[in-house]
Amino acid sequence: MEKKNKLYEGKAKILYDTDSPDYLIQYFKDDATAFNAAKKGTIKEKGVMNNGISTRMFEFLEAEGIPTHFVKKLNDREMAVKKVDIVPVEVVMRNIAAGSLCRNLGVEEGMKLPCPVLEFCYKRDDLNDPLINASHIRALNLATQDEIDEITKYALQINELMKQFFLNLKLELVDFKLEFGRCNGSIILADEISPDTCRLWEVGTGNKLDKDRFRHDLGNIEEAYQEVLKRMSV
Ligand code: TMP
Repeated sequence: MEKKNKLYEGKAKILYDTDSPDYLIQYFKDDATAFNAAKKGTIKEKGVMNNGISTRMFEFLEAEGIPTHFVKKLNDREMAVKKVDIVPVEVVMRNIAAGSLCRNLGVEEGMKLPCPVLEFCYKRDDLNDPLINASHIRALNLATQDEIDEITKYALQINELMKQFFLNLKLELVDFKLEFGRCNGSIILADEISPDTCRLWEVGTGNKLDKDRFRHDLGNIEEAYQEVLKRMSV
């Protein structure tokens, strides 16, 4: 597969088209942003670590029957992915209260949620990715009800699978963000799954092994990502 033109550059990744109309190359950068890019920096070798972590997660989910855009890892920072039409909705799943849930609803960080919480956000940086619901998604024509149902079903399944996966690595899956795309008439999982897009707390210590270390200047950021990759690789 031959890399051609840059199609899109986001905050953490670049997408290139290829000599095949059905495939793209997803390149992982070291750039890190938080709070809708109000905070900017780089995390050394983050691109390499997130490419490795995302590859492992997509391979795991595919093996468990979840369709994804992942094709194969090409090198340290790049994976081949299926070309999809991204649904402009960020899907957040939460098991433990943290981040914006605490800020918006006044609950304390660390509260175990008695059932998983599913949130949708409109993928619009200019509007600060506002929280929306299924009727907004239908009314703004972002997705059909059938697509919302499919996305919801996958998000709940992925949560159960990932919760167990990380628990086996002695990591608690606090929350995470997913993006889905349309490919040949079906909904498939796209984007990335990494410590940029998940909150992971070490079982026992509560040590944060994710981008909250960058968001809140907790230090040892690279080490945290490296630790997640190491636990997955053995
Ligand atoms: P939040 O608590 O800031 O809403 O974040 C919930 C989860 O979603 C957390 O695991 C981080 C992830 N996330 C992203 O991947 N991208 C984003 O732009 C935001 C705001 C959160």
